[in-house]
Amino acid sequence: MSKNKFIPEKPLILLGFMGSGKSTLAKILSAKLSLPCIDTDLEIEKRLDKKIVDIFTENGEDFFRNYENRLLVELLQKNNVQIIAIGGGTPCYFNAMDLINKKSLSVYLQLPYNVVKLRLKKNNNPRPLMQKLTESELETLFLQREKTYLQAQFIVNANQLPEATADEIISKITAHKIDCA
Ligand code: S3P
Repeated sequence: MSKNKFIPEKPLILLGFMGSGKSTLAKILSAKLSLPCIDTDLEIEKRLDKKIVDIFTENGEDFFRNYENRLLVELLQKNNVQIIAIGGGTPCYFNAMDLINKKSLSVYLQLPYNVVKLRLKKNNNPRPLMQKLTESELETLFLQREKTYLQAQFIVNANQLPEATADEIISKITAHKIDCA
């Protein structure tokens, strides 16, 4: 897919469970489409000058959920055409999925649970939910959340090289645009 071939008319939101590669994909798509990208977890850490894991322990999960939702609303109100990687829980609180579908092109990076589990085991990014939940609670959370993620406008296979997932996203969105033209 050549650079600049496709320009989305709305922000493009990448969503999915922890470990699905949202941040990596946001950077790849940003380079391929020559669009800015933002990772809401990093933005929250920057604004609060605190690691997510410390926000959970010091301010509590409810504070974090409110903060991430307010940031999402702020970004979507601006309506800048950019790639936005959001946290795994963001679409699942405060009816955020409805807002996401209204204001952006939403893309679910789909992975089977067994792959998620392996990726999270290997990953050394300290995620508060990984410290808190048992394996079976994590699986239950995944199954619950997937119902929300599946409401995304585009569903792509994240169980392949990130470059291939990025190309799949671009071709699905391009095909949709042509169909809707
Ligand atoms: C969370 C996922 C994390 C981060 C926070 C909570 C979740 O983001 O927002 O730890 O509830 O699934 P990633 O999905 O980028 O790991």
